[in-house]
Amino acid sequence: MIIAIDGTSASGKGTLARRLAAHFDYAYLETGMLYRAIAFLMLEETEGEMDLSVALELAKTFAPEDLKVLEHNKLRLPRVSTAASEISTSPEIREYLKKFQQKFATRPPEKKAGAILDGRDIGTVICPNAPFKFFLIADLDVRAQRRTQELEEMGDLVKYGDVHDRLKSRDQLDSSRTESPLLKAEGAIEIDTTHLTADQVFEKALQHIEKK
Ligand code: DC
Repeated sequence: MIIAIDGTSASGKGTLARRLAAHFDYAYLETGMLYRAIAFLMLEETEGEMDLSVALELAKTFAPEDLKVLEHNKLRLPRVSTAASEISTSPEIREYLKKFQQKFATRPPEKKAGAILDGRDIGTVICPNAPFKFFLIADLDVRAQRRTQELEEMGDLVKYGDVHDRLKSRDQLDSSRTESPLLKAEGAIEIDTTHLTADQVFEKALQHIEKK
């Protein structure tokens, strides 16, 4: 069983994915973390410069187990988010990460009975045959508020305006790139989370799954 969840940054896809994974006891993969991990390692190696060739070499040798040793808080830093979005435009890097994601979906770790993946191209490219696909959206202002709060809770001093502008440009880049852009997959259920609580989003998704 595979559940694919796509959507814009801070639309609530991670929260929904985690809730569904706990409910069904499925494995969960936050695919954005793969791009973030490579972006983070690239920035360390280049001392802050964007260099796609370095990122590509890292993608080739990156073992997804490496994710466990990286500090997740650092992967969420704004400069890592921006670099992740930029490196994700590379078809070669996407191809290297695709295989791992598909394997995770079809053979989930710990022999779990299902897998939930969230990202930008799960329902369109990684798992186009997933029986359940969700597409989450929310107004930019609400997403910027959520992300500002999240970063503040991690101890990061951020300004709402900066977070808002960065999300806007990342949306633009993620949706307009030629390679696997953010798109609503055929058959995906769209949920607008702007005015919904995490509980309400979860209930809505669960209803769709149980109805099928
Ligand atoms: O979901 P996120 O914000 O952590 O993702 C970080 C970046 O990684 C995002 O801006 C675009 C890229 N990404 C992608 O291209 N495809 C995915 N399946 C997941 C993330």
